Amino acid sequence: KLSEEDKVRSPICCMMGHIDTGKTKLLDYITGNVQEGEAGGTTQKMGATYLSARNILEKTMELKSDTKLKVPRPLFIDTPGYEFYTNLRSRGLGLCDFAILVVDIMHGLEPQTIECLNLLRMKNTEFIIALNKVDRLYGWRICENAPILEAMKQQTKDVINEFNMRLNEIINQFKEQGLNSELYYKNKEMGETFSIVPTCAISGEGIPDLLLLLVQLTQKTMVEKLITYVDKVQQCTVLEVKVMEGYGTTIDVVLVNGELHEGGQIVVCGLQGPIVTTIRALLTPHPIKELHVNGNHVHHEVIKAAECINIIAKDLEHVIVGTALHVVGPDDDIEAIKELVMED
Ligand code: GTP
Ligand code: MG
Ligand code: NA
Repeated sequence: KLSEEDKVRSPICCMMGHIDTGKTKLLDYITGNVQEGEAGGTTQKMGATYLSARNILEKTMELKSDTKLKVPRPLFIDTPGYEFYTNLRSRGLGLCDFAILVVDIMHGLEPQTIECLNLLRMKNTEFIIALNKVDRLYGWRICENAPILEAMKQQTKDVINEFNMRLNEIINQFKEQGLNSELYYKNKEMGETFSIVPTCAISGEGIPDLLLLLVQLTQKTMVEKLITYVDKVQQCTVLEVKVMEGYGTTIDVVLVNGELHEGGQIVVCGLQGPIVTTIRALLTPHPIKELHVNGNHVHHEVIKAAECINIIAKDLEHVIVGTALHVVGPDDDIEAIKELVMED
């Protein structure tokens, strides 16, 4: 039986921005995970990771906030910034409740920043701007995991001048795109004016602030959008098709809402047409990171949203990444679902 707390699903946050602004690095820092196997440090697919409540509490402690996590831990979707992947950025954002738009303080707005901004506005998604790589300001003094105002106090006049100059230029660039933005602690009109959080994904300056804003945005989104719990799957997207030792070809999916059951029948979009198959197993990575080696996974009979899951089933070789997975319910017309799947 579900408790009241279980009846809300986790919110999903999308990392967006131009290539190499530090989306993946920021995620690595705040979740404590390290994304493995990124060729040349370029993200080429959507990825999903959880931020634990413990992580949030630990990392916001120095802000002495009384952040009580009345919301489920957020699930993050990382997207590539490389210009070629517009489709993945758009699909990634389509799964999310809100987003973090990452801008490199040394580069300002770049082509994919503007593309992301337009996507965010088209989808009417709320977002926070992370002004990343503040440590690249000439002469920056490292203050590990410090709230940004604390870190600023440690900087010389020259660093602060350069920071202000770059910040103002970026606020103007956003204004040219028709967007009002302001440092989050000066922002009095949340909603009208978008908040900027200066960050460093290497030594963690500004990360407590970013997490605190995330929690606030989560709470606000939960109240406004009433992300309530449903058991029927309305949105589930394939992130990756991969071969796993002992299991053959499997798929990683993001379950945005609803429940998946072991033994359930699913339909996915394949290169040569719709694929109808049965879920043999539902796996998630072992919660303790050190146990990820040797393919340690947790098996589930049922999984509820939001979650990133590895599905074991037959005939998954030709599944197309980025497409939707459909669950066949007891009253569903399988032929109709097969048609629906191929429209994606
Ligand atoms: P794509 O996924 O390819 O779009 O890039 P990304 O936005 O995920 O950037 P990524 O996290 O791969 O970081 C790009 C480079 O910038 C890496 O070499 C990082 O180590 C570096 N980097 C990221 N954040 C920071 C930061 O805050 N400070 C400094 N100095 N370097 C950073
Ligand atoms: Mg990346
Ligand atoms: Na990169």
